[in-house]
Amino acid sequence: MFSSKINSNLVKRAAAAPLNRLYSQLALSVNVNLPNGTSYEQPTGLFINNEFVLPKQKKTFEVISPSTEEEITHVYEAREEDIDIAVEAAQAAFNSDWATGDPAARVKALLKLADLIDQNAETLAHIESLDNGKSLQCSRGDVALSSQCIRSAAGWADKINGSVVETGDTHFNYTRREPLGVCGQIIPWNFPLLMLSWKLAPALATGNTIVLKSAESTPLSALYMANLIKEAGIPAGVVNIVSGFGKIAGEAIATHQKIKKVAFTGSTATGRHIMKAAAESNLKKVTLELGGKSPNIVFDDANVSKAVQSLVAGIFYNTGEVCCAGSRIYVQEGVYDQVLSEFKAAAEGIKIGNPFDEDVFMGAQASYAQLTKILKFIEIGKNQGATLITGGERVDDKGYFIKPTIFGDVTKDMDIVKEEIFGPVVTISKFKTVDEIVETANDSPYGLAAGVHTEDINKAIDVANRIKSGTIWVNTYNDFHQSVPFGGYGESGFGREMGQESLDNYTQVKAVRIGLTKKN
Ligand code: NAI
Ligand code: MG
Repeated sequence: MFSSKINSNLVKRAAAAPLNRLYSQLALSVNVNLPNGTSYEQPTGLFINNEFVLPKQKKTFEVISPSTEEEITHVYEAREEDIDIAVEAAQAAFNSDWATGDPAARVKALLKLADLIDQNAETLAHIESLDNGKSLQCSRGDVALSSQCIRSAAGWADKINGSVVETGDTHFNYTRREPLGVCGQIIPWNFPLLMLSWKLAPALATGNTIVLKSAESTPLSALYMANLIKEAGIPAGVVNIVSGFGKIAGEAIATHQKIKKVAFTGSTATGRHIMKAAAESNLKKVTLELGGKSPNIVFDDANVSKAVQSLVAGIFYNTGEVCCAGSRIYVQEGVYDQVLSEFKAAAEGIKIGNPFDEDVFMGAQASYAQLTKILKFIEIGKNQGATLITGGERVDDKGYFIKPTIFGDVTKDMDIVKEEIFGPVVTISKFKTVDEIVETANDSPYGLAAGVHTEDINKAIDVANRIKSGTIWVNTYNDFHQSVPFGGYGESGFGREMGQESLDNYTQVKAVRIGLTKKN
């Protein structure tokens, strides 16, 4: 299937940690065949100063396609010394016109980058499905939102204004919103291209420079994007992209003395660790987008068939590997039986399998580690007494596919109700009153998102106001727009991505107060 295949007999080995070995023959770009009959050039090196280079130690690690468990290629691995080199490049670029010159240059480059993403949309979508396992339907959505997000940020780039502050005629005061400097960005594997775009867009619009590390299980689309970044005219050193492991390259970013900010999306445990590393190194600024256990609530007066569509999109979109997945469903007693039966039928009707089939909605889970984590939670759910309503198993023993899974008869102390599973596994339970459901919805240390389904606008707004989370979707779910900010309350993190708010994470305010001398 893949011309770059080095060894296709890897099914069993995929269970082990990714191979990390000296593979000095690996070219800086390999030709990869895609299932649609096309092929493309996949970069494998570290992207530093607008060039693909070898890391100092020349180590590589393998990249697996989760839908076949076959190796796609190897890529080169960045380690501490390579992060230092990338930071030097980013620092030099920060001391250039990129940060201090006319922002019109940033507008132009970002608009060009958005156009290049659109022009390469099909290739990018296929790379994403190959590397992450998600269906082409999902990948195409990621690509579209990526270019929209970058285009939207381009519109802000020449509108990053300070203000004049009046304090009387003895002084003149003004503020500037200045970029921070070199920013470290650490992204996860569930939306590799989209998380890269969410992070690059506001950082670039505001004139920062970047060292970005992709997730070890999905490095391919970031490296492909590197070529587009260069083609868009973004100057050398402004964006540096490395593949590598969290404990080595990620740690080097989080602890680096010259990195002024780290933006992270991933697990709450790693987010906590990164915040500590930032505090103990140079007090770099931190933004974290972490896990969730988001409630998706259906009231008696909801449009049931529309609500069921949102329940499905809420938990089975992107095979459930979504930080804001609606993983706790609560249905008011009057419509519980109807919602459950329609939701179960919808879940059982989902087409799951080869991510490249046009009508497949659910592809594979992203990695063997994620597959085993999800299956473990399914066992825990059964052992703790929940009723398995549907699913609960792998589809085949080749490829990391898990059936859409619904648990009923759950109690609030069960692990499957409290913990982030990050897969196509959802719990469903009944509630009676608005006050009861608001309390239940808020009974979580997380606060990323919530869904509210009702035709009563007063109830919708009341409940939206009372739920403690960064996003509330009313009569929709997993519904993003590049102008609408996204981020967490509580242990789901802080800082916002997309929209005007995302720019605040990448600027700092300088106040200039000038004492005036009055001439008579
Ligand atoms: P993780 O948080 O460890 O990995 C995410 C990113 O952080 C990767 O790029 C990784 O290389 C990096 N990283 C890991 N350790 C690091 C360290 N010490 N310093 C700096 N960077 C580090 O998440 P993992 O282990 O891949 O997944 C575990 C669970 O995390 C998932 O099952 C899911 O529940 C949650 N998760 C949540 C995501 C979200 O969107 N909020 C995304 C990915 C995972
Ligand atoms: Mg992969």
